[in-house]
Amino acid sequence: MNAPEAILEMPVHNKNDLAGELAACLSREAVICRAEPMTKHTTLRVGGPADVYVEPASEMDLAGIVKFCGARGVPFFVIGRGSNLLVRDGGFRGVMICLTHANFSRIEVDGECLRCGAGARLKNVAVEARRSGLSGVEFLEGIPGSVGGALRMNAGAMGGQTFDVVESVRLMDFDGNIRELAPQAMAVEYRHCAALKNRIALGAVFKCQSAPRGEIEARMKAFSEKRWASQPAAPSAGCLFKNPAQIPAGKLVDELGLKGARVGGAVVSAEHGNFIVNDGTATARNILNLIDLLKQRAKVERGIELETEVEIIGEG
Ligand code: EPU
Repeated sequence: MNAPEAILEMPVHNKNDLAGELAACLSREAVICRAEPMTKHTTLRVGGPADVYVEPASEMDLAGIVKFCGARGVPFFVIGRGSNLLVRDGGFRGVMICLTHANFSRIEVDGECLRCGAGARLKNVAVEARRSGLSGVEFLEGIPGSVGGALRMNAGAMGGQTFDVVESVRLMDFDGNIRELAPQAMAVEYRHCAALKNRIALGAVFKCQSAPRGEIEARMKAFSEKRWASQPAAPSAGCLFKNPAQIPAGKLVDELGLKGARVGGAVVSAEHGNFIVNDGTATARNILNLIDLLKQRAKVERGIELETEVEIIGEG
């Protein structure tokens, strides 16, 4: 993602200036901008501006932000790589918190465990594991997200899901308190983790097993080849719908003959029916209308309720 442009000079004091007031609470290393277009921070490349966009540089900054928002009743939302997110064209009224600062993105090897910050890229986790001869997280290789996002939605691919390998999660509640939880205490399901609905993942310990590097390499290569053969490279948010019990969503859309269906610049991928890609001109409205069309056809023709896996936020 591009670096935000309008970095505020700090401190800024203006009674009605949310960004200015918030900036005064943060360390100098934090990044904060006004009216930041979410096109720059989502893999779908659509979405209106967030009133305030902030990249905290430390857990203390982050605690300061959630307390600030709590005290003023200002909504906030936490993003990682924006790879499972659709922001409507009117943007987000509140504070968008992005955990991409290097201090949130560390990956440390500790015996057979990997201690990863919420902002770490999943690809980097898989690569670091391979480098260290640790197996178990190969399936993270091609998921275009961050550790925090993967925890929040129990992201998965290639038969694996994030919580299969989680030993513990470090998280912050909305009062800024930090604790560690075991996965058993986190109400984890397919593509959902209830404990992270109203808490922020700061990082996790992934439990791996030592294995020959060649084997790890071969597994990652096979996953990558499968992904490139079956999924589009154009901007998307990954799979759009959760797989219903009856049939994988992509297969369903395919069987309904809806690959290639288009609304404006939003197109159902020709490679995989559960992806909508942005041809470079899509708006969030285009994508939402196309989602509605797919849901309606699935309901009417097959009696199946498709549920979005992608999170949809912001103002229409
Ligand atoms: N299929 C079709 N047509 C299509 C797409 C798929 O017939 O257009 C068929 C495939 O041939 C296969 C079945 O549907 O028989 C399942 O397809 P695939 O193996 O691609 O897996 P999926 O269930 O569609 C899931 C995850 C993906 C992950 C892949 C690979 C969900 C919602 N999606 O897709 O995750 O990459 O497995 O393991 O669980 C994501 O969550 O964003 C995501 C991309």
